[in-house]
Amino acid sequence: MKEYGHFDDAAREYVITDPATPWPWINYMGTEDFFSLISNTAGGYCFCKDAKFRRILRYRYNGVPMDAGGRYYYINDGGSVWNPGWKPSKAQLDRYECRHGMGYTRITGEKDGLRAEVLCFVPIGSRCEVHRVRLSNIGAAPKRFKLYAFVEWCLWNASTDMENFQRNLSTGEVEVEPDAIYHKTEYRERRNHYAFYGANRPFDGFDTDRETFIGMYNGFEAPQQVLSGTSGDSVAHGWSPVAAERFDVTLAPGASEDIIFVLGYVENPQDAKFIAPGVINKAPARAMMESFATPEQVDAAFKRLRCFWDDLLGRFTLSSDVPELDRTVNIWNQYQCMITFFMSRSASYFESGIGRGMGFRDSNQDLAGIVHLIPERARQRILDIAATQFPDGGCYHQYQPLTKRGNNDIGGGFGDDPLWLIFGTVTYIKETGDFGILDEPVPFDNAPGSEVSLLEHLKISFNHVLDLRGPHGLPLIGRADWNDCLNLNCFSLDPDESFQTTENKTDGSKAESLMIAGLFVAEGRDFAELLRRIGDGYAETVAKAADDMEAAVKAHGWDGEWFLRAYDFYGGKIGSDECAEGKVFIESQGWCTMARIGADEGLCDKALDSVVKHLECEYGIVLNAPAYSSYLMEYGEISSYPEGYKENAGIFCHNNPWVIIGEAMAGRADDAWRHYCKITPAFTKDQQLRKVEPYVFCQMVAGRDAARPGEGKNSWLTGTAAWTWKAVSEAILGIKPQYDGLLIEPCIPERYGNYRIHRRFRDAEYDISIHYTGKRGKFFVPYKPGKQTLEVEI
Ligand code: BGC
Ligand code: NOJ
Repeated sequence: MKEYGHFDDAAREYVITDPATPWPWINYMGTEDFFSLISNTAGGYCFCKDAKFRRILRYRYNGVPMDAGGRYYYINDGGSVWNPGWKPSKAQLDRYECRHGMGYTRITGEKDGLRAEVLCFVPIGSRCEVHRVRLSNIGAAPKRFKLYAFVEWCLWNASTDMENFQRNLSTGEVEVEPDAIYHKTEYRERRNHYAFYGANRPFDGFDTDRETFIGMYNGFEAPQQVLSGTSGDSVAHGWSPVAAERFDVTLAPGASEDIIFVLGYVENPQDAKFIAPGVINKAPARAMMESFATPEQVDAAFKRLRCFWDDLLGRFTLSSDVPELDRTVNIWNQYQCMITFFMSRSASYFESGIGRGMGFRDSNQDLAGIVHLIPERARQRILDIAATQFPDGGCYHQYQPLTKRGNNDIGGGFGDDPLWLIFGTVTYIKETGDFGILDEPVPFDNAPGSEVSLLEHLKISFNHVLDLRGPHGLPLIGRADWNDCLNLNCFSLDPDESFQTTENKTDGSKAESLMIAGLFVAEGRDFAELLRRIGDGYAETVAKAADDMEAAVKAHGWDGEWFLRAYDFYGGKIGSDECAEGKVFIESQGWCTMARIGADEGLCDKALDSVVKHLECEYGIVLNAPAYSSYLMEYGEISSYPEGYKENAGIFCHNNPWVIIGEAMAGRADDAWRHYCKITPAFTKDQQLRKVEPYVFCQMVAGRDAARPGEGKNSWLTGTAAWTWKAVSEAILGIKPQYDGLLIEPCIPERYGNYRIHRRFRDAEYDISIHYTGKRGKFFVPYKPGKQTLEVEI
């Protein structure tokens, strides 16, 4: 089977050795508010704070060829034009390697005795990308060649940048200095920010007008100035501003030289925008360039970045007999959790950065993947999310990272949303012991003066779901529950309507969700426990409501062999053996088994058996079966997808861990492990079939009914990251944070039952050697600051 790359675990890198991957295989850079996406051929873009409103580089989504636009370095070596990252010229390289590491990417190309190694990263504490281009003459003869550095600017708003050309083509403005190009479109008016692309030495020629550099009839693969070894020294006025910088380089055999580039973003105070009429204040940009002007400075900044990740990834480490498990747990799963936390679902090669901001439910779930790494940021995130809530507990489905305000782009009124705030907060307090967060004042809909405590927000959230119950006492689904595509009140026949935002027919709706019911029981019990701990009498009301819900599920949500999925608008069953299609669904099996509903009567085991029997396939567990074969207006978007894709019987990886956790809670180690391995990319055998990156989880893998089962899509930004982390770290390896310590309760096949875990937990550090004998037991380690070494036989 063809391999495009391999893991280098010691370096925490994935090494791509063939640039023509089946799809761009990308990485992310940035840890605070400046972020970049970079593909294995140097494609991608960066932004500050908000991928829609503060886009720095232009990017063409789904272009032909794919992945057009990025940070392109061109070399013209005696008329032979090539790029170290192969694209865009695609000139055959003698050697190519791309190493995606933790927050950096290093791309190396070699041709005809010349090596160009481009190290890209976003330094901690800076709003820029640093590119260190190391040029080495590895041949026997002297080399004289030209290096071009090229980026294309986005006119800030990534959405209007692609639409409003009657305006855009007249607004572009730049300033040029001997060693830097500044992009200042719209800075003359309301913007207080600009971008720049500087080098640590003056260039020998430049262009800022795209057509002068590339040529009206050429593409990125063959810019006319690069082909002719010249520069137009053009200054852009409108049209499309770019930054293209030329360096004439001479290298003796064996010699090597670094040119350092800084691609940065600056905000100036309103009263310090200009130093002369029309001349921008460049001091902050200069300062940034000066802080990365020498190889030593770059080395130091790179070392800081590596230390940052070493420290983070040192908080939870595993040493087991399964290399795929170790590399997933120690490196890539945690890394993906961090990236998903930063981006929510905004910017990837499947999310345009334009359409979606931070999801209410998504961001709460993402916390489960990072709270042990960056608890202080988890805290802030919880408060930000809660502040977008409405006084009645309802929620905007998403909010914009720039303003932290809710927006209605994907509607509101999703029945499950409020419960995720409880999930996020409980997860946070169990990890940190910070009960104080409950007293934080948090407004509604960001309105000053409306503040109540976070605890009050949680109660309102719980009651919101409690109050919205249907004829069976089960939660009403609203616009949808976790499954955005189960639109039971939408009834849309108009192709121009959105399933998410179209006005719903809720009057008289009987549409209820068993997924929310399971979530309600699980989170209700967690919430009751939290309330008891703080001595809040409301605990009993909450516990009773959870018990009542469990009873309602048993009475009206059990189909005989599995849990029903929902009742539709008219009260008809969904996810029942009585249905012609969509007889079994994964979400309610996951949540009801995690809530242990009817466990004593054997319902959980039966439901989990049904998952194996009806939903499991070679690549994971499909969402539903049989798939819907035609559009059903009363079910909505779920039936809009062809069979085997997305929410219609795709392997929607996010929900597989729910079953894995349910399996582990039921003590079924082999099933839990098998389900886990199927969706975990490190176990992937066929890279060509999978298509997307072999080092990160994807949202969806095509299911067994699809044309190409096993083909992955929507890699990177998915709740799968946090949920598989929870599944593997807590349910399988058994390290469960509790309010006052760690509970150790593994559920792993016995043959893998000997492993060691290093776990930082608040101010404690535990070194735990586990010998799991297959007998289900638990061991509680009370929290005590300091180091502890434990041998645990369970
Ligand atoms: C997708 C969902 C997504 C929703 C909202 C749908 O088209 O299938 O996965 O959550 O859009 O953006
Ligand atoms: C993707 C969304 O981001 C998430 O919130 C949702 O739960 C799933 N799609 C399932 O529809």
